[in-house]
Amino acid sequence: MDALAFFDGECYFGIVSEVSESWDRVKMIESYDEMFGATLFKCMYDIAPDAWTPFAFTADDVEQKNEKFMVFAKRFVRMLDLAVHMLGPDMDIVAEEMMDLGPAHARYGVTARHFELMGQALGHTLEKVLSSRDCTPSTKHSWEKIFSFMSAYMLEGAKSV
Ligand code: HEM
Repeated sequence: MDALAFFDGECYFGIVSEVSESWDRVKMIESYDEMFGATLFKCMYDIAPDAWTPFAFTADDVEQKNEKFMVFAKRFVRMLDLAVHMLGPDMDIVAEEMMDLGPAHARYGVTARHFELMGQALGHTLEKVLSSRDCTPSTKHSWEKIFSFMSAYMLEGAKSV
């Protein structure tokens, strides 16, 4: 796969800076990790209640913000934070880092459908937690691009399992 071709002539730097800036806005919200994790997982379980077998939580745990679930949700958002921080000027390096995450995800039972559903839920979550000024159609497009870029390389890396 050619990382540059993935962006189809669009400006990678513009996309990355839009994602990073909007993520910084999310991080200004109090207890952003708990809030974002709870909202993201609620969206994921609303979209596809039975899809999330890689996680040890039910839709009820998510709905009721069960304590163990909240600890996990917070950790999951920290992972997302790490992934956003991995974004940098060299997209080939980001692609390699994503490929390295692929095999572990394949072992967790994560499939292409999970990436697709999580990508949708992520878009809804950003819309919910950010103001319309900070989450414009262009912001959403940039997140979609980055998320599908990351997903594509993680799935590519998973092929080695
Ligand atoms: C672009 C998308 C994603 C990124 C950047 C990402 C990143 C990460 C990272 C950095 C870790 C910790 C390292 C590791 O355990 O290998 C992790 C763990 C994990 N991820 Fe992902 N992930 C993504 C998508 C997904 C999806 C779609 C699912 C499943 C629906 C998923 C399920 C998991 C699970 C179950 C773990 C282990 C959590 C634990 O420690 O209990 N991830 N992810």
